[in-house]
Amino acid sequence: MRLTSLSQQTSKVRIGRIITETGSGRGDFRLDPDWMTRGCVIVGKSGTGKSHDIDLLAGQVSQLGHAVVILDRTGEHAEALSRLSFAHIMRPGQDFSFQLLSPSDPTIESTDEGIEDILDTLSHYFAVSFGQGPTPLQQRIIRENLQTHFRNGWGVSQGTSVVDFISLVRHYQDFKKNVHGFVESCESVVSRLHPLCVGNLGRVFDQSKEGFSVQDLFAPVLFVMDLSSLKYEPAKNLLSQILLKQLFQEARRLGRVDGLRQLVVVDEAHNIAPRDPEYQSFLEMIAIENRKYGQGLLVATTSPSQLSEALLRNASIRFCHLLDDGKDIDLMLRFMVNRLEIDRYLADVRMLGLGEALVQVSAPKSIPPTKVAVDFK
Ligand SMILES: Nc1ncnc2c1ncn2[C@@H]1O[C@H](COP(=O)(O)OP(=O)(O)O)[C@@H](O)[C@H]1O
Ligand SMILES: [Mg+2]
Repeated sequence: MRLTSLSQQTSKVRIGRIITETGSGRGDFRLDPDWMTRGCVIVGKSGTGKSHDIDLLAGQVSQLGHAVVILDRTGEHAEALSRLSFAHIMRPGQDFSFQLLSPSDPTIESTDEGIEDILDTLSHYFAVSFGQGPTPLQQRIIRENLQTHFRNGWGVSQGTSVVDFISLVRHYQDFKKNVHGFVESCESVVSRLHPLCVGNLGRVFDQSKEGFSVQDLFAPVLFVMDLSSLKYEPAKNLLSQILLKQLFQEARRLGRVDGLRQLVVVDEAHNIAPRDPEYQSFLEMIAIENRKYGQGLLVATTSPSQLSEALLRNASIRFCHLLDDGKDIDLMLRFMVNRLEIDRYLADVRMLGLGEALVQVSAPKSIPPTKVAVDFK
């Protein structure tokens, strides 16, 4: 009996100590990594311990033999986790890169399908970095110029470079200069793409890194994708989108599996999964569609009201650190407890100390909000 319960304990991740009203301990709080295929969301004001939770969870989940991929915008996770022997820090341009204007799915052979795939990636980039997807006219400009390139005899799977594409759009702009609206739309397509071919960004978006494949990220290793060298926020968003799209597709190619195959971790997730009913991010697609493919999601944000509501709703594990904005508190508690119980927890959320969180689980088993002092060494 003891042995069974011991092995059950050790296949779980330890979050911290449960604290009661009086502040005394009531045992450990543990989570089963397999539950993370149902999504996990961490919220709290800046400086309340969210990034530390991520490091704590990611390290343990990886040690239990699961693949973990952290998208690290600031380099803080790379710094904190580099001391772990099983962590691999991956740097764009150095260890991985992509060709933006080529299909994300290598099995695509048809030119039209390839073009639609590229347009889809660019649409996510536009939506997240500029607050709006490409207009119908911008889509047409992108589509027609890609068609021109690939009709010239280039295979769609080889893609094209951003520099070449921009020069095609410039010619096209000249050609269409008397047609209403084209000049402005061409300008805006170019101005959004141009920064991606300047300086070190060219190396990140204009060629796929030899020897790197997204399949590698399914090995049972802790990967920290350190995006801090990209100085420009839209570039971080774009690289995140490309990675997430490929991770989403690859998980599906690998097929169904029970339990957790890979945990995808995104800190400050409102940047790439904003609250916008018009837009469905890849993070939402992973959360909603990829549980059966064993792809779990762990996201953190300072402001739940800025994060995609679908992510909050679809998560079954929620960590709520100190929040002081009434709207954020209401929103979180609405997902964590039923209406009648909200009042009971309102004061708690405002009074949590550093590294303390209310942790709630809704599936596969139900654990009501429990105050936990997250481990910190
Ligand atoms: N559980 C904890 N106990 C004690 N200190 C913590 C805990 N978690 C984080 N800290 C400290 O608090 C500070 C902010 O933590 P961080 O995880 O970066 O917060 P956030 O990501 O919410 O902004 C850091 O200096 C960190 O060392
Ligand atoms: Mg943080």
